[in-house]
Amino acid sequence: MSDSDQFNTIAGWTLAAGIVALGATIVTGQLFKHHPVEAGGYAVESADGGAEGGAAKDPPIALLMQTADAAKGAEVFKKCASCHTINNGGANGIGPNLYGVMGKKHGHMAGFAYSAGMLAKPGNWDFEGMNEWLKSPKKYVEGTKMSFAGLSKPEDRANLIAYLNAEGSNLPLPAAPAAEAAPAEAGAANAAAPAEANAAAPAAK
Ligand code: HEC
Repeated sequence: MSDSDQFNTIAGWTLAAGIVALGATIVTGQLFKHHPVEAGGYAVESADGGAEGGAAKDPPIALLMQTADAAKGAEVFKKCASCHTINNGGANGIGPNLYGVMGKKHGHMAGFAYSAGMLAKPGNWDFEGMNEWLKSPKKYVEGTKMSFAGLSKPEDRANLIAYLNAEGSNLPLPAAPAAEAAPAEAGAANAAAPAEANAAAPAAK
């Protein structure tokens, strides 16, 4: 074996190592190229999650109803007026007349051509349900005919519900959900209250 043979061998291995390294670089490069795409995917997902998480973050409608303003709701109703009347005995338009709809069953106007989904929806329009409906009609009633995207602002929905309620329904407002706002503390307060009441009662009599 001559020196030059040895040199060739070394050169060969060096070349081979170089190719391996190059290959590794390409593979790594692809990994890194793919990564941001995946990360982007996650980012989109988490943004979605955030939007849905937004549902959880919305203050409870029972709480918002305490300060809701029917006059402001009348302003919001302008978005609905192209399809709905709300006066007593008003005509159905693209959507049904909404006088007194709060508390009525889903699909409350006899003779209006509701979607099958609306007619199949059990129960009545209560504060919770109306809030969900106005947030996303198509989530609340699958296959609904109401082509309205929904109101994203919880306060707009609460004000609008106050207005709907004032027009012919006047349901009592739901109780302010103190227990929901601070479950642990409310629980503790509830536990403490009866004990005090019991202790105080005999002394008072
Ligand atoms: C593009 C027309 C359109 C707009 C805008 C619209 N609606 Fe409707 N609405 C409809 C239709 C159509 C229905 C019937 C839905 C079905 O049968 O699935 C409906 C149904 C309803 C119902 C159910 C009534 C019942 O009898 O049970 C309520 C409540 C309602 N809309 C409220 C609103 C409010 C409040 C707004 C404004 C934020 C609004 N809608 C905006 C077309 C509309």
